[in-house]
Amino acid sequence: MAEPGAPQDAASAQPLCPSADLAERGRALVFDVRLWGQPARAFVLRHDGVLRGYINRCAHVPVEMDWQPGEFLDADKRFIICAIHGATYEPAQGRCVGGPCGRSKLIALDVAERDGQACWYPSRDVQPALPAVAAAPPPPP
Ligand code: FES
Repeated sequence: MAEPGAPQDAASAQPLCPSADLAERGRALVFDVRLWGQPARAFVLRHDGVLRGYINRCAHVPVEMDWQPGEFLDADKRFIICAIHGATYEPAQGRCVGGPCGRSKLIALDVAERDGQACWYPSRDVQPALPAVAAAPPPPP
């Protein structure tokens, strides 16, 4: 698997949604991944015309940050803000710029737009979620 920042090949692209569904500074798409082998959530949003993707996990306390499902931006739609204690992150690099996140940053995903689709690329640390296992049918009477 390629590492963040490395050139990406189309074969590893994980499709998310049509690019047009991610409006500038609008609601993010939240999706399931595995981070270091464990289930986690990630999100992608558009800011200054560019898709940005991160693990939905605050650097202060490892909890999900959206204040409503898919809503990560502050009132001015300038920063990503954690709904728990108000840590703020600049969207381009995910660096903490205020609040209790100190010098930490969000865990970034490689995201891109290919042929009108938003997609992300797995890395050594972040892999696609495992398929849901269907419940076994009840035994015959
Ligand atoms: S958990 Fe995010 S600011 Fe505290």
